[in-house]
Amino acid sequence: MHNDNAMKVPLYVLLVIESTLIAAGVAVHPGCECIVFSKVHGKEKGSFKSPDFPKPYASNIDCLLYTFVGDEDEIVELAFTDFDVHKTADDCISGDYLKVFMHLEGHSVNEYTPWESVLCGGYADIPAVIYSSGSVLVLAFHSGARTANASGFLGTFRFLQKKLFRTDGWKLPSTSCDYEFYSSDHSLLQGKFYSPRFPSSYPTNIRCTYKFQARYKERVRILFEEVALQKGDISCLNRADIVRVFDGSASADPSIRILCNENSGAEILSSGPDLFIEFIANSDRPGRGFKGKYQFQRSDSTAVARNPGELPPSTETEPNVRETRSSCDVAISSDSSRNGSITSPSYPSPYPAKTTCTYEFQGRGKERVQVAFHDFNLYVPNGNSKNCDDADSLGVYIHIDGRIEKIDSFCGAVTPKPVMSNGPRLKLEFQSFHTSRYSRGFKATYAFMENFGIRTGNQLSIYPCAFEFNSNESKEGHFSSPNYPGYYPRDTECHYFFNGNLSEKVRLHFDYFDVEGVLPCDAVSASDYVEFSNYVTKDKKFSRYCGQLKEFDVESDRQYFRVTFRSNDRLDGTGFNATYRFVMGKEGRKKPANVLNSSNWDRGTCLWILLCVISMTKIST
Ligand SMILES: *[C@@H]1O[C@H](CO)[C@@H](O)[C@H](O)[C@H]1NC(C)=O
Ligand SMILES: *[C@@H]1O[C@H](CO)[C@@H](O)[C@H](O)[C@H]1NC(C)=O
Ligand SMILES: *[C@@H]1O[C@H](CO)[C@@H](O)[C@H](O)[C@H]1NC(C)=O
Ligand SMILES: *[C@@H]1O[C@H](CO)[C@@H](O)[C@H](O)[C@H]1NC(C)=O
Ligand SMILES: *[C@@H]1O[C@H](CO)[C@@H](O)[C@H](O)[C@H]1NC(C)=O
Ligand SMILES: *[C@@H]1O[C@H](CO)[C@@H](O)[C@H](O)[C@H]1NC(C)=O
Repeated sequence: MHNDNAMKVPLYVLLVIESTLIAAGVAVHPGCECIVFSKVHGKEKGSFKSPDFPKPYASNIDCLLYTFVGDEDEIVELAFTDFDVHKTADDCISGDYLKVFMHLEGHSVNEYTPWESVLCGGYADIPAVIYSSGSVLVLAFHSGARTANASGFLGTFRFLQKKLFRTDGWKLPSTSCDYEFYSSDHSLLQGKFYSPRFPSSYPTNIRCTYKFQARYKERVRILFEEVALQKGDISCLNRADIVRVFDGSASADPSIRILCNENSGAEILSSGPDLFIEFIANSDRPGRGFKGKYQFQRSDSTAVARNPGELPPSTETEPNVRETRSSCDVAISSDSSRNGSITSPSYPSPYPAKTTCTYEFQGRGKERVQVAFHDFNLYVPNGNSKNCDDADSLGVYIHIDGRIEKIDSFCGAVTPKPVMSNGPRLKLEFQSFHTSRYSRGFKATYAFMENFGIRTGNQLSIYPCAFEFNSNESKEGHFSSPNYPGYYPRDTECHYFFNGNLSEKVRLHFDYFDVEGVLPCDAVSASDYVEFSNYVTKDKKFSRYCGQLKEFDVESDRQYFRVTFRSNDRLDGTGFNATYRFVMGKEGRKKPANVLNSSNWDRGTCLWILLCVISMTKIST
């Protein structure tokens, strides 16, 4: 059937590269002028621009079409280098605009052809790169009656092989996007998978599944290299486009990761041989989708150990130190021990000088690694432990956004708060320059935990981190952010659901609150936040909470209440600790005196929060 289509592609006679204007008789509605960029004479790329760029484009351009035509097995990539189209309306559909047709069957568009997006405004308002799903992409440029004095756009195009984005699994017959991946002697042990039409935009109202089946004593490792569903930082509870990862063979198995919004570098390791991914998209503005890599690997190779035979026993681990650096590395996998302890070399005797030891932890499923310190005493030259750079120190590293990042560094003699990974892996690195008979080193316990260090409520398996508090089980209690009182992990969303009986409400009292961010706690200020709601969906009554706040109360209207905590991929706080109490509706109607209302914050509070953020940034770097 590919040959079939190839016959139909009339390579245009008007082969115009580099934006020459030609009024051509391509099947478009009258009044349209066309510029066609197609692949001839091996020309794989080029540039395009608005008329007269960089001088302002004229007014009253009714319709100027840029048509990009690749080969049958190719897609079109457009990258804008400059963009300035005068914006008159938020939806861009009046005045000056550029319409984008990404999913065309043929070569032509007319006034009835559905388009995928309309671009206007400045460079920051548009996606820098757009892709077609088939071999044709059309831009339609329009300018209004008034001269806008805007310079227009400049971009480059190129053609990419469609097969670069082919999912390596077995597509189930008579489904549009359900795939299975098997590990066998005859199949690939690793490969790639994509959302439909990636890197263009995915269709709407779809459900796709990706089922991975490893063999006995094997596991599935997944890396989401890119997830681009919707912009923003809205809770995944309220997203129409969502990727869910289940630790088993179906969506009834425990959910270990939920992705919405935009994200990169999320890594997942199954507990057993099965892993199931479900992608649901129902929004009317689809994003680009996702690309991922999978790998079937033997369970015993999931230990980060370089010498698997030397895995530490589950009790005391004493790194074996020789005279050279990095001779005391340990790798601990949750398969061999779910908890235990680690120490600096020779602990509690003084550690040797000029030593580097790494401690690598590898969990699986929804496990996070938590390390809690019990003794900490490192040598500090001149008694100054502000800056760990020149001192003996213990660094904490996580994998985030596809790279390894140091999130903390400890030195001196103050026992650090517990640390927690953002995913299945965590690395500590101990580095000594000095030795001193007064410096014992450190001792810590580690645990691979599925509850994020949240020890109250009933954990629900349908979300990675969600806890339910039912009044029929307990009328009052407390709850905290993940890893409290240590820094909360990055890229983590936790829900706390409160269920009272019909005549009850829930009253919350926050004793401690430190969530990194500035008002209005949104994506623009890269804030983490806590959200309250009387519904599963967003509640207009509450604005988001972030910053360092004094004690405050929050109360539900009815028997159901939801608290959602969400952290992003940078900067952390120590979270919150709060108590809850189910009270009778009538009692609850009295307004508590100090309901903290973010719109009541004065400038002083904001400045104070900002200063705290700045000083926190200093500490964590
Ligand atoms: C509009 O064009 C005039 C020259 O024609 C120029 O002086 C002015 O700065 C331009 N305004 C904007 C907003 O670009
Ligand atoms: C490991 O966990 C077990 C049971 O949860 C507990 O009894 C034991 O004390 C823990 N060991 C360490 C070193 O934390
Ligand atoms: C409390 O109510 C919830 C539903 O709201 C139910 O799932 C749970 O089993 C109940 N617990 C007890 C102890 O009755
Ligand atoms: C709800 O709980 C309250 C206690 O908070 C209790 O007095 C009341 O009887 C309960 N109502 C129902 C309908 O269970
Ligand atoms: C959190 O608050 C509760 C209730 O006030 C308290 O019992 C608990 O110890 C606190 N947690 C921490 C880690 O301070
Ligand atoms: C917050 O305060 C403003 C003005 O002080 C008020 O209009 C608003 O309703 C309050 N919001 C809440 C949730 O109490």
